[in-house]
Amino acid sequence: MTEFVKLIYGDRQYQLPVIEGTEGEKAIDISALRRQTGLITLDPGYANTGACSSDITFMDGEKGILRYRGIPVEQLAEYSTFIETSYLLINRRLPSPSELTRFSVLLNDNSLVHEDMRSFYENFPRSSHPMGILSAMVNALRSFYPEIQNLEEEINLTVTRLLSKIRTMAAMSYKISRGHKVVYPRPDLAYCDNFLNMMFDSPVKPYRIDRVVTTALNVFWILHADHEQNCSTTAVRVVGSARVNLYSAISAGIAALWGPLHGGANQAVIEMLSQIAENNNMAQVIERAKDKNDPFRLMGFGHRIYKTFDPRMKIMKKVCHRLLEKLKVSDPLLDVAQELEEIALRDDYFIEHHLYPNVDFYSGIVLRAIGIPTNMFTVMFAIGRLPGWIAQWKESIDDPNWKLCRPRQIYTGPQETAYVPIEQR
Ligand code: ACO
Repeated sequence: MTEFVKLIYGDRQYQLPVIEGTEGEKAIDISALRRQTGLITLDPGYANTGACSSDITFMDGEKGILRYRGIPVEQLAEYSTFIETSYLLINRRLPSPSELTRFSVLLNDNSLVHEDMRSFYENFPRSSHPMGILSAMVNALRSFYPEIQNLEEEINLTVTRLLSKIRTMAAMSYKISRGHKVVYPRPDLAYCDNFLNMMFDSPVKPYRIDRVVTTALNVFWILHADHEQNCSTTAVRVVGSARVNLYSAISAGIAALWGPLHGGANQAVIEMLSQIAENNNMAQVIERAKDKNDPFRLMGFGHRIYKTFDPRMKIMKKVCHRLLEKLKVSDPLLDVAQELEEIALRDDYFIEHHLYPNVDFYSGIVLRAIGIPTNMFTVMFAIGRLPGWIAQWKESIDDPNWKLCRPRQIYTGPQETAYVPIEQR
């Protein structure tokens, strides 16, 4: 039986239907609100707004739960690979062994980047941030690999191209930024190993694949693979709603992810931890984060949805310890992070505001141990988030009720004002 919410406005009463999801979360369906009442809703930052219904990812921010297509992220991190998880997100179910093999072959077949694209890379200023380059180059893919029609087969090819080429492009931008020779993808290497090889292999120092590093990278990417309607995913859906090509929608997602309040936080965390290690000023940093008059925030802390521990952070912390131990690496930033976490979790400000470490708090230390330079951290996040963006984009274009995203506003500017000619001003 449908539940309703009563809305009384003026001398009239309206009934708004309540929608319920499979995990019991409820929403008021306001899709007829303006037509019926003349009113719109106002929700800055969309904290109370459900923009779509989706069967991809479930999160419970109070309990710290994250599942992709129903499967807990803890199980995927333990047993799956990034490629299998990508398949799950995009195709709605786990692949059979033969489907997984076929998927891997397709990824391998599409791993090269058009040679002409190299000239773009070579002409970006050396100081360019890799996220800006990645966003621009993913958009440019549309010119090199135009979609013929919106056929399912064509979409699948575009999806495979993106998943495969993004790691080649990321590694290429790193090599070129260092003035080093580009390393091509190898058909004998699996997805993560191939990326690591393209990043670190050199004619004078061949890269040796280490299972421990491959596992850590798989888990890192699995943990970032989707996170329902976050800022960058919303950007992909909104831009995609104009029926632009997939490359451009993903490029918009990369741009949104770049921001320090979103994906850019992993770089910001390392910068903050390094600064604390250097200046030995943890107490001042915590005081600054608590000061209402200071815009500074403790990076890697807090989350729009999680009001308890971010489940990804718990896994990332374990991966971090395991990786450093196996590689026999001692990173002073791990000690700083652990101390900072302990102090913040005991502090009334962080307790009252329900601020817990998020996935970014330990992820930078993992990436550092793998050898990824700090300015590539958010690129690593983008590669991981790509299957989620694709799955969300696919879901939105397959939705029979798909609409162009076009929110409204409450105008607060001047009422009609006459134009004043320049000589009279
Ligand atoms: N340090 C100090 N105070 C914080 C922090 C923080 N990291 N995060 C939130 N707060 C405080 C705010 O100042 C605010 O205080 P007030 O109510 O006294 O004014 C309160 O907590 C609520 O903050 P909001 O900004 O309203 O919370 P919101 O849900 O919008 O913020 C966000 C979420 C942006 C992630 C925020 O916690 C933040 O800036 N964190 C640091 C950046 C970061 O780590 N981002 C990565 C997020 S995870 C991801 O994108 C992968």
